[in-house]
Amino acid sequence: MATGMLHSHYLFVVLFTLIYMVKTILLLSDRDELLEKFKKKTKVLEMIVSFGFLATGIFLMTQMPQIPNLMYVKIGLVVLSIPLAVIGYKKKNKVLATLSFFLIVVSFGIAQKVKKDKSGGTIVAKMGKEIYEEKCTLCHGNDGKLAMSGAKDLSMTQLDHMGIVTIITEGKNSMASYKGVLSPGQIEAVAVYIETDLKGK
Ligand code: HEC
Repeated sequence: MATGMLHSHYLFVVLFTLIYMVKTILLLSDRDELLEKFKKKTKVLEMIVSFGFLATGIFLMTQMPQIPNLMYVKIGLVVLSIPLAVIGYKKKNKVLATLSFFLIVVSFGIAQKVKKDKSGGTIVAKMGKEIYEEKCTLCHGNDGKLAMSGAKDLSMTQLDHMGIVTIITEGKNSMASYKGVLSPGQIEAVAVYIETDLKGK
């Protein structure tokens, strides 16, 4: 679920930026008529995209174990860019419209930075970490090395992504299947966590 949401969020963000970019270019090049036409044609799409962008964004925030400070800066920039854009396009003010587009681009730059936190983990890996600590440490330990009741040392695993996903989904010997306990998205997130933070460490 969470990874699916993340992908939808990216898709909405890309669409949102594209619409924004075309509008800014049209405004800057004084093609007022074309701009009006484009605004009319994309009105519904833009509403859907903006809603999807915000809804997936908010959902993802609720899934994050902790919200990094930079994230607040990013949200602040996005929130600030909206009234600037509304006024900018209404009044055909090039400076405001460009500034607003610039804020959106900067906030994406920040999003990229937030995605890679200090330990190199991704947001998905962070979601996976929470699930791992709740469900898996009993046998595998915090660092994956515990190997209780015949469990494998996860830091030594030779499995690739699919292999890890399959074991978690189907289970093996004394490790139970997590199908139905965890959603496919959660299993995906735990697998990413194992690969980025435990494997080979
Ligand atoms: C009841 C103890 C137990 C729990 C809880 C448990 N595991 Fe396991 N796990 C095992 C055992 C035992 C094996 C070894 C299975 C085998 O190969 O015989 C294993 C193997 C694995 C492997 C394969 C490693 C390899 O290199 O073959 C992965 C990946 C794994 N577990 C992930 C997880 C994750 C993720 C969770 C939590 C969602 C979890 N395990 C919870 C006992 C457990």
